[in-house]
Amino acid sequence: MKLFSGTSNLPLAQKVAEKLGVSLSDVEIKRFPDGECKVWVPAKQDSLANEDIFVIQSLSYIADQNLMELCLFGDALKRLGAKKITAVVPWMGYSKQDKEFRKGEAVSAQLVAKFIETAGFTGVITFDLHSPKIKEYFSIPLVELSTKNLYQEEIDGCPSCIIVSPDKGGRNRSDNLAEILNLPVAHLDKTRDLAGGAVSIQGIDKDISGETVIIFDDIINTGSTAIATAGFLHEKGAKQIFFFATHGVFSGQATKNIQNSPIDKVVVTDTIYIPPEKVFPKLKIISVADLIAEEIQNLKFKIPQ
Ligand code: R5P
Repeated sequence: MKLFSGTSNLPLAQKVAEKLGVSLSDVEIKRFPDGECKVWVPAKQDSLANEDIFVIQSLSYIADQNLMELCLFGDALKRLGAKKITAVVPWMGYSKQDKEFRKGEAVSAQLVAKFIETAGFTGVITFDLHSPKIKEYFSIPLVELSTKNLYQEEIDGCPSCIIVSPDKGGRNRSDNLAEILNLPVAHLDKTRDLAGGAVSIQGIDKDISGETVIIFDDIINTGSTAIATAGFLHEKGAKQIFFFATHGVFSGQATKNIQNSPIDKVVVTDTIYIPPEKVFPKLKIISVADLIAEEIQNLKFKIPQ
């Protein structure tokens, strides 16, 4: 088995390597003065042919660059004769654009799937996709891991919490978490203005006044959903507000705005590397390294003939 890492989330890749008891394999990733990327894997021709190869790369900021780097990685490995190359993409960037919301829009999630396959990857491991549709865009095997079991520790000591789904898209996800944790669940009715992105909350199907609520989402991006849902629940009398999400994108002023919101605690995972300047007092980051290492150890993808 060989484990490689792109540049987008080296701390996570190092943790996975440690859990697996291996070192990250050598690669040289450079940028030319004009910004173009070059990936060189210094291995002998065909020396990787019978290896299970894993490349860890999140498609986080700057998504275009990190995607290109991943694709060049796949190409370099394929040229060396590698046959079984799994892209470990903890955060599948471009997944929010998973359908044509307005006529004439690109379906980015579908195109990214094609890029990854064309680059030479034969399988994908990822986490909590934005929608089930994305899986269908891949014709190579894709394992979607879930972070749900990681939150138990955070929730222990809160036997009467209510899980809250922020929107229709997150309903199944939240229902599922509530079932695992044996907690009640409430559903918010959220709308987003397609042009400007403004989020507003219309209502909730349960009385949460005096309760501790845990809003559960896949992504915190601009923080608009987190702030609007927390503001609404605060007005409805929630006693404490937690926000759990798998992917902490935190674009723009998200971290500052969330720190100043009624949210008491935010829990995200390290599917995306969060640099020190984006860490804020209310934030807790839990690691998915164990889940990736376990999946790599148990992976049943077949080497293509
Ligand atoms: C929406 O469909 C998603 O599940 C998230 O709620 C959304 O992507 C979060 O984005 P933002 O933080 O910009 O509101």
